[in-house]
Amino acid sequence: MRDFVYHAPTEVVFGKQSEEKVASLVKKYGGHKVLVHYGGKSAKKSGLLDKICGLLRDGGVDFVCLGGVVPNPRLSLVHEGIDLCRQEGVDFILAVGGGSVIDSAKAIACGVPYDGEVWDFYTGKASPACYLPVACVLTIPAAGSEMSESSVITNEDGDVKLGYSNQLSRPKFAIMNPVRTFTLPPYQTAAGVTDMIMHTMERYFSHDDDMDLTDSLAEALMRDLMDNVFKVLADPEDYRARAQIMWGCSLAHNDLTGCGLTGDWATHEIEHELSGMFDVTHGAGLAAIWPSWARYVYKENVSRFVRFAVNVLGVPQDFTDPEGTALKGIEAMERFYHAIGMPVNIHELIGKEVSEDEIREMARKCTRGHKITQGSFKVLGSEDIEAIYRMAR
Ligand code: NZQ
Ligand code: ZN
Repeated sequence: MRDFVYHAPTEVVFGKQSEEKVASLVKKYGGHKVLVHYGGKSAKKSGLLDKICGLLRDGGVDFVCLGGVVPNPRLSLVHEGIDLCRQEGVDFILAVGGGSVIDSAKAIACGVPYDGEVWDFYTGKASPACYLPVACVLTIPAAGSEMSESSVITNEDGDVKLGYSNQLSRPKFAIMNPVRTFTLPPYQTAAGVTDMIMHTMERYFSHDDDMDLTDSLAEALMRDLMDNVFKVLADPEDYRARAQIMWGCSLAHNDLTGCGLTGDWATHEIEHELSGMFDVTHGAGLAAIWPSWARYVYKENVSRFVRFAVNVLGVPQDFTDPEGTALKGIEAMERFYHAIGMPVNIHELIGKEVSEDEIREMARKCTRGHKITQGSFKVLGSEDIEAIYRMAR
């Protein structure tokens, strides 16, 4: 078992009345002037944005608003947010939305106190000394950003999508009302659950296979998310299933399912280039890549794939043929993706075949110009990554 530090300081306020506490929570965490940051239209259309603004006003908390965050959030809006916060003397960022809004909020929060270019944090050229406090009212249980230390931003200049992790960025509080997720379209619901299962899988596919408690928690979480996604696809207003998905998604990315394990994250890194180049939904991009990644790497630790197949997907274990059981697990995962409307290759994802030039370009970006490798279950260089894109095309 690996040594580990588990630090999940976000205060989770969960349930149907959770939004009512927003003003007192902002004050509790030191906010005087808030930037309310939101996306395109869903938070406006549902009335949530007006409700949050009304609650802040009634609670005596001053605020300004900035909307317009798009999926795969853009650096240009982060710059706009930083300028606005400086002009208005903002000292607290409240994201009202999904992962993209929260990630954009985190980038603004580290950019405001920094004199240089915020993108430097994402490229590794600099690291922030401090952040403005960030919190969120979550509307989509998908990215897991509500409790995570990461944010992922797309720089339109070159279509480069990069993640940055820093403990200081963990939200101070996360308000989670499952009712707010009733309006999520089926594709977004399925993509979100796919992403969350993948957050668990990226930690689960590890060579550190002596952490039974973590593995068992991860397996239960994955099975539970798989069961409940079918329930909400059949009935979008199934509160019980929406609630379990919402909480499960947060646990999937607050590091609980990584305690004692190394983790891999290659599928995420390979997918980020797809999102950067084709602006696809992150979770769907993961489903398009994972089966090819799995077939490329499974021989590194067949027994891990067997355990996944048997304990998560219910594949009968054939003790005479571990490889066969492992491959049946990958096939069962593909059937699950199809059953919830997710793609299992890039053609299904973007509706056309990706070209050789695009493959080479994505692999180049993924290895920061052939300078770094990705993954740990099998360490992948640019040629491996190109091979995975080709298998997935
Ligand atoms: O813009 P609006 O109109 O609000 O629409 C959004 C958006 O189009 C819509 N939506 C959100 N809540 C809704 C709703 N529609 C109806 N009803 C609601 N209640 O959903 C669409 C997608 O929203 P987005 O925030 O982009 O989704 P998600 O939460 O999946 O976030 C994806 C982003 O998170 C990054 C991804 O790379 C991607 O950029 N990730 C961030 C991570 C982190 N910070 O820890 C980890 C993840 O692995 C991931 O990489
Ligand atoms: Zn993800």
